[in-house]
Amino acid sequence: MKTGEAPGIGGSNSLLEAKLHSITQEAEGIFIFEIRPTRGQYFPEVEAGAHIDLHLANGLSRSYSIVNSQDDRDRYLIAVKNEVPGRGGSRFIHSEFRVGQNLTIGRPRNNFRLREASSHSVLIAGGIGITPLYSMIQRLERLNRSWELHYAAAHRERAAFVEQLEILRPKTHFYFRSDHGALDLRQIVKESRLDADFYCCGPTRMLLDFETATASIPPDRVHAEYFTARDQPALEGGFEVVLQRSDQRVTIQAGETILDALIRLEIDVPYSCMEGVCGSCQVGVIEGTPDHRDLILSKEEREMNDRMLICCSGSKSAKLVLDL
Ligand code: FES
Repeated sequence: MKTGEAPGIGGSNSLLEAKLHSITQEAEGIFIFEIRPTRGQYFPEVEAGAHIDLHLANGLSRSYSIVNSQDDRDRYLIAVKNEVPGRGGSRFIHSEFRVGQNLTIGRPRNNFRLREASSHSVLIAGGIGITPLYSMIQRLERLNRSWELHYAAAHRERAAFVEQLEILRPKTHFYFRSDHGALDLRQIVKESRLDADFYCCGPTRMLLDFETATASIPPDRVHAEYFTARDQPALEGGFEVVLQRSDQRVTIQAGETILDALIRLEIDVPYSCMEGVCGSCQVGVIEGTPDHRDLILSKEEREMNDRMLICCSGSKSAKLVLDL
């Protein structure tokens, strides 16, 4: 999933030193990178759906879902698709990463939580969007919960975890465009149990269709994870940001986000994707009204008016006081 440049990626206690233990091909253009801790035997615990930020030597940062079971504490596995027309992170990983090299990763974060107690989970994946859902499937199987997966991809050869998921038929359903398989989101939702939770991860077009198809379902049972921004960032500028803890004032200019302004002034803040999809730049709001543009905060969280994602959100008030 996701990007950014690296100065200011959290404090040192938010980072983990690790080593690349192995690289294996999972599908055409998709490799699994096995990351193990260099200090101690175990990584911090993860929940299904969590991701880590990978801080790359070229100064970029990318987020990837952890695809192994959460019972597996001595390693994280991430599946990386080589996105040739992408923004360069996956290409760098595919061309430069070597077994044995040291890596710096962020602690796991989870913006895509599994409601383990749900009576039934409907999981919908597009392409490499299978990654967070695959970890959820392992968890649901472990808990012996009821679930079904609908997985769309261009070709079987370019889809990850197909062999492992084939074993789980009839819970798994594949839709390969090369085989004329068409995934009808409305039909899937219509035919699902009324009390199910719905999850979707895939390209933006699929996620927008998913939002439409699930519009009548209570929001707490609808869960989506975006790879890229859906809305434009707030670039209007013309407001003041007060950093309460460091006692600094910053004027946000037209054409820049709050994060851009802080980077310009060399103020150290955590960030990764710079698109409002990873959650790493979230800060507390003490005063003022944010203009939210992210895909992380729920409607309820926005209404609380106590936090915001500064890489993309702006301000509806002339002044914002942040807990920074
Ligand atoms: S840097 Fe990813 S949400 Fe802001």
